[in-house]
Amino acid sequence: MRVLGISTSPRENSNSDMLLRQVLSGASSTGAEAEYLRLCKFNISPCLACGACYATGECPVQDDFAVVLAKILAADRIVFATPVFFMSVCAQAKILIDRCQCLWAAKYILKRPIIGPREISRLAMVIAVGGKKGGKAFDCIRLMMKYYLDAIDMGYFANLFISNADEAGKIADNAEAMQEAVQLGKELVLAAGPATGKTIDVELIG
Ligand SMILES: Cc1cc2nc3c(=O)[nH]c(=O)nc-3n(C[C@H](O)[C@H](O)[C@H](O)COP(=O)(O)O)c2cc1C
Repeated sequence: MRVLGISTSPRENSNSDMLLRQVLSGASSTGAEAEYLRLCKFNISPCLACGACYATGECPVQDDFAVVLAKILAADRIVFATPVFFMSVCAQAKILIDRCQCLWAAKYILKRPIIGPREISRLAMVIAVGGKKGGKAFDCIRLMMKYYLDAIDMGYFANLFISNADEAGKIADNAEAMQEAVQLGKELVLAAGPATGKTIDVELIG
């Protein structure tokens, strides 16, 4: 069982990053192999909408996307962590999401399987942290991730959404959120999948 954690926040001492590490430690405690990836260390440029992937299923832009894509395709579980920026994901996360258009093209235009037959079903969870209190902070992310995870052939297992956590590192003082993250990491690995039912939704106030 390979679990890939993608941390997209650009800042040090990031709240979403801390929760991601907790999820990965929960996943590792069940015996899964967990890999942590900090997206801002990779050089990935935005999708050019050149249309090449509609004919080939592959992205012609030469940068670190190929490295990250290989990890996404190899993973059995993905944990995608993002801060809330203007009611959505941060730019680093959005760039990665858009570049995965090549997988969408392979799946829906070329009708080619993007993942070979597997014994283990692929499942993902999403972590998002916002500084404001509640409201509609996670609506956009929820919808975006539904379509993104479908494009990369991942069942949508769970959300861990935290509002009212603005200051860097603040989430470390929130024992409930930190423990919930460990628990969701365990559940993500142990879930039999495929996730055909409802996505688990955990929303907490930081
Ligand atoms: C550019 C920018 C936009 C933001 N927009 C929102 C927002 O729309 N809603 C919100 O709740 N918080 C917003 N915030 C606050 C962050 O979501 C908050 O600081 C969060 O803890 C960041 O997570 P991180 O520590 O993982 O980067 C914004 C912060 C920045 C820098």
